[in-house]
Amino acid sequence: MLLPSLPSALAYGGDYNPEQWPESVWPEDARLMREAGVNLVSVGIFAWSRIQPTPKTWDFAWLDRVMDLLHAHGVRVCLATATASPPAWLARLHPDSLPVTADGVTLHIGSRQQFSPSSPDYRRHATALVRRLAKRYARHPALAAWHVGNEFACHMNECHGPHSTRAFRVWLKTKYKTLAALNAAWGTAFWSQLYGDWEEIHTPRRAPYASNPAQQLDFKRFTHEAFFDLYKLERTLLKAAAPDVPVTTNLMGFFKPLDYHAWAREMDFAAWDSYPDPALPDEGRHWAAVGHDLTRSLKPGLPFILMESATSAVNWRAFNRPKPAGLMRLQSLQAVARGADGVMFFQWRASLSGAEKFHSAMVAHVDPERSRIHSQVRALGAELRRLAPVVGSVVHARVAIVMDWAAWWALELEARPTKLDYMATLHAVHRAFYAQNHAVDFVHPEADLSRYVLVVAPVLYLLTPAGAANLSAFAQNGGTLVATYATGIVDADERVVPGGYPGLLRDTFGVWVEEWVPLDDRFANSFRLLGKGGAKLACREWSEFVHVEDAEVLATFTADLTAGGPALTRRRVGSGRALYLAAGLDVPGWDALASFLAAEAGVSPVLAVPTEVEVSERVSADGTRHLFVLNHRHKPVSVPLGARRGVDLLTGRPAARTLTLGPLGAAVVALPPAGQSDKKPGR
Ligand code: GAL
Repeated sequence: MLLPSLPSALAYGGDYNPEQWPESVWPEDARLMREAGVNLVSVGIFAWSRIQPTPKTWDFAWLDRVMDLLHAHGVRVCLATATASPPAWLARLHPDSLPVTADGVTLHIGSRQQFSPSSPDYRRHATALVRRLAKRYARHPALAAWHVGNEFACHMNECHGPHSTRAFRVWLKTKYKTLAALNAAWGTAFWSQLYGDWEEIHTPRRAPYASNPAQQLDFKRFTHEAFFDLYKLERTLLKAAAPDVPVTTNLMGFFKPLDYHAWAREMDFAAWDSYPDPALPDEGRHWAAVGHDLTRSLKPGLPFILMESATSAVNWRAFNRPKPAGLMRLQSLQAVARGADGVMFFQWRASLSGAEKFHSAMVAHVDPERSRIHSQVRALGAELRRLAPVVGSVVHARVAIVMDWAAWWALELEARPTKLDYMATLHAVHRAFYAQNHAVDFVHPEADLSRYVLVVAPVLYLLTPAGAANLSAFAQNGGTLVATYATGIVDADERVVPGGYPGLLRDTFGVWVEEWVPLDDRFANSFRLLGKGGAKLACREWSEFVHVEDAEVLATFTADLTAGGPALTRRRVGSGRALYLAAGLDVPGWDALASFLAAEAGVSPVLAVPTEVEVSERVSADGTRHLFVLNHRHKPVSVPLGARRGVDLLTGRPAARTLTLGPLGAAVVALPPAGQSDKKPGR
């Protein structure tokens, strides 16, 4: 259970910023919340300067009244630690607490997040604030969870100021102990970069040409840890005051600067903010799905919370399209379908001032009784209440995609053989399985893989011996392992593993690669899948000269420098198999390959449905299956359920044998545990 104080309800609500409003508005907020079915709000995220207007004055009285009012209306609070945006006085007293870019530009006050993660003064003041907040509200009956900071590193994701430089040196000394070890790991013999004194070492500031890649990679690790330390510092203070209250922070899906695998281990539940672009409906629905899947995977076996989303338009894209009627509902149900136990928005009431006043909210700038958005907000609240049986249920994926932040950081450093986009590649692989309604998790290379039958490792450029051994063992033990080009190229120090790519996985795949052949519009290539009528797959971005040592060739390149060479290989490994893909693919190519791989591994989707219909299954502890069927089309669709007989939770009635879903429609069907007879409910 994510929230002990909301044991049997999906969480519903949003960011609530009462400090922006006269107190006379608060009672109306609380009443409207109750009427809309809101049961959780995030309070105080940007309220530091209101709580502590000067370094020596504190004002909690207003927050006490907000907490009491919400409690009286049955609304629980995810209480923020307010550290996301320090007050102006911090910069006045400690100008060196401001962050500095790689070009040496200081980022000033007047917006948000203007602090260096390594500033001792920021830490000191944040500690004092969190201590007081934790002590004051630890036992408040409205408190459901703590919300640490806000979207850590969202706008300011590295700092090159004096405190960061000093802290980077300390971090390096801890890691390498001696300069000799650092020089060896960074390969500083190259371009006369040898260091003779720790003071010579800086963060990778703007330089005349490509900076040392190992230095850059270490700086990314250091920066990730600097933010993570701040989170852990706050988490420890909160746990000391309230050991049983869950602690979380709002993650941002595929957010490069922070290794969320590490963060999730220190969070009681995962939460993320999702803003798919309504102007790009197809990309948008996949963008949200892939983010839900990542967030869910960060805490295996546990639901997550969608901590922020938009009821309609955002204000921060160049072109901000509102959502058509029904889309907000469908996207909210999509989050629940993929494992969310809560749907929240930014924000409750649309601001009248400030940089986000044109962002949609649950209460717009108009009378809620006549508001198009607010009527949808109320309807959604009522529907989420009917989905209470889903609380705590989980998605069981049999397919996993390997995802590693260090590999991402390293793949996209300067001075690559050709520019590759880690996230775009992972999204392309995921999209193909998603379109075919296979549940997919994202896993760390060293994670327990025993629950999967198919594991795909795309462009896993940096790989540790432990990661390589884990992936090989998965195949040995009967799994179907797939790796793509640009995998296993370097070790943790960004040093090439010599002897042919994919380095430590050469023996597993029985191939080695000597040279790459990037592709673009001028240099086309393709390959055909083996077997009668095997699909022809167009290659994108990448191809390779593959030498086969001990593998079966499943497809060969048709053109260009690699013509006739292996494009896809397979090797029996223990009781499983290992397939190596030596090329990038376009969308139809990934679709075809995903079908081929699913057949190879023996996985099938939970239900066969027309295209643009999304299906996801959540299973409760008692085995009840909750089948979410979501129609992303703007026209009606029929979905036969086959022999399955269940109850449609949204209507409360037995589900028809064939579901008829209107445009952007959805059904959630509760089915008896697998294996039990599909009798009509109630008989
Ligand atoms: C999020 C942020 C919120 C708000 C929102 C607007 O990234 O956490 O505070 O700015 O975006 O979409």
